[in-house]
Amino acid sequence: MIPDSFKQDLLNRIDIVEVVGRYVQLKKAGANFSGLCPFHNEKTPSFTVSGAKQFYHCFGCQKHGNAIGFLMDYGSMGYVDAIKELASLVGMQVPEWQPRTPDEAKRKERETDLAALMQRAMDFYRAELRRAPRAIDYLKRRGLSGETAARFGVGFAPDDWQALKRAFPDYDNAALVECGLVIEGEGKRYDRFRDRVMFPIFNRRDTVVGFGGRVLGEGEPKYLNSPETPLFQKGQEIYGLGHARDAIREAKRALVVEGYMDVLALAQHDLGYAVATLGTATTPVHVTRLLRELRESGSELVFCFDGDSAGRKAAWRALEVSLPLATDTTALRFLFLPEGEDPDSFVRANGRQVLERLIAQAQTLSGFLLGELRAQSDLGAAEGRARFQVTAKPLIQRLAAPALRQQLIRAVAELAQIAPDYAESFYAADREARPRRPAFGKAQAPIPKTEEQHLLRCVVTHPALAEELDEELLDPGAPESAALRALAAELADAEAMSGAVLVERYQGTQFEKAVFQAQESAIEQGLTPESATQEFRQLQIALRIRRKHREIEVLKGQVEANPALNAELHLRVKELHQLKAQRS
Ligand code: UTP
Ligand code: MN
Repeated sequence: MIPDSFKQDLLNRIDIVEVVGRYVQLKKAGANFSGLCPFHNEKTPSFTVSGAKQFYHCFGCQKHGNAIGFLMDYGSMGYVDAIKELASLVGMQVPEWQPRTPDEAKRKERETDLAALMQRAMDFYRAELRRAPRAIDYLKRRGLSGETAARFGVGFAPDDWQALKRAFPDYDNAALVECGLVIEGEGKRYDRFRDRVMFPIFNRRDTVVGFGGRVLGEGEPKYLNSPETPLFQKGQEIYGLGHARDAIREAKRALVVEGYMDVLALAQHDLGYAVATLGTATTPVHVTRLLRELRESGSELVFCFDGDSAGRKAAWRALEVSLPLATDTTALRFLFLPEGEDPDSFVRANGRQVLERLIAQAQTLSGFLLGELRAQSDLGAAEGRARFQVTAKPLIQRLAAPALRQQLIRAVAELAQIAPDYAESFYAADREARPRRPAFGKAQAPIPKTEEQHLLRCVVTHPALAEELDEELLDPGAPESAALRALAAELADAEAMSGAVLVERYQGTQFEKAVFQAQESAIEQGLTPESATQEFRQLQIALRIRRKHREIEVLKGQVEANPALNAELHLRVKELHQLKAQRS
């Protein structure tokens, strides 16, 4: 069994266009890529690969799936081999272990048990820090106050192979291995963390789910982290979020940095709204969760990176991940620190105010995007402007925030010296560019018939929409309703998913078919996050109008017998008109 979290992480990191492109010649066709289908004989391409959805689909033979499925079908690989192949492409190691209890309730119970062990380990490490002058010295030299260390639960793992025996008399308990505290090898058991400063990692329920352990001074690896466990998935946790939450709300700003020590140093300097990714690239899960904390209009999410080329690359990745998640109310910004500095060293040398001045001047998403593109093309020449115009296209099309997108189109038009009207149509989602259906095709993706099918199609295109779902509007009898509810529950549980991950997630469940069909239909319609958002909102309004009409019908029937209901009726009619005004 391969853990879901790993598959999710993997699918978030690979690009299906690249994977398929190694075997099939693909050509850009609007937002998608197309080519001759490798699964059946054809002369005109009906095989489509969607980068946005990380999904392929042949309108000729109906083969479809994500990158894992492609390798299984095309490379005749087994499931596990396909995953291993993909993992090797992005340098990930497939975890060996992980039996999974089928019973969900049992799993939760197990997680609670593991969480209790982690909590006990944290208490132990904290107590040990008080008795470890060497570790205290190290932290003091790094400028960390005892107060900050205590607030973040910093501890120390003694230099001892089985120190945890003192905290856990039942050291043989298999659960200690399962939660990553103890390593089992050649019949012996020993502590994973030894002679390290321990940083507990809390999840969104303030449960300790993992640790990062730093060597005192030099040594490899600098940080040792908990392995992936039932409690802990690295790409999903945001370090320091629990501590930062109030400050984020108050400042209407979150600062994303890279390291544990950065978060602590910033907090100590009264900059409480900093959080860190755990040494991984920015994932959609990170962005979605942070945007959720920044709903209030005028908020901003600031990514902070080193000023070197690795930092710019990481920033660009964060930008790409953010485009389909961006909104018009929360600004995304990119801050590059002077070379050789990290937030920890910078704030200690210059103080909070200087850093906040830099934050205030941080590049906007549009500024960063345009700046990078401009650096690649010579806008003094027609060819350079044409290149600029074209390279901007996929980025603009992925940007979900409609107003910002409009602004960006304008800015690009000006820089590329093209007419605004022309830019408008050039950057519009290319619906017409989808591949033609096969000549004899009765085969085509099912067209949604019910509102629920429509809604699901929008949600698989832009999973964040599940959050806006008003479940009361759904027809309980429609098979898609259950799938929509499952998605909404899952996303409310703070996990963002790409379309490919969604399909993977629901494979083999009762929702598989509905999710697959929705995906197919979304691809055929060339839905973009933006068009899906619009369609989704309009649908919900239409459903609300329908419900209001029904309420009014019922009231009309009652009003004669009970004139007091007249006021109620008027109110409903007024609400109906308000709803209708929202329709575009
Ligand atoms: P940094 O190397 O920037 O570490 O890695 P840092 O937080 O500034 O640490 P100090 O200041 O040297 O003590 C950033 C993050 O990457 C992860 C950790 O989460 C770290 O905080 N990392 C780094 C690892 O997981 N393992 C490593 O060996 C190094
Ligand atoms: Mn550092």
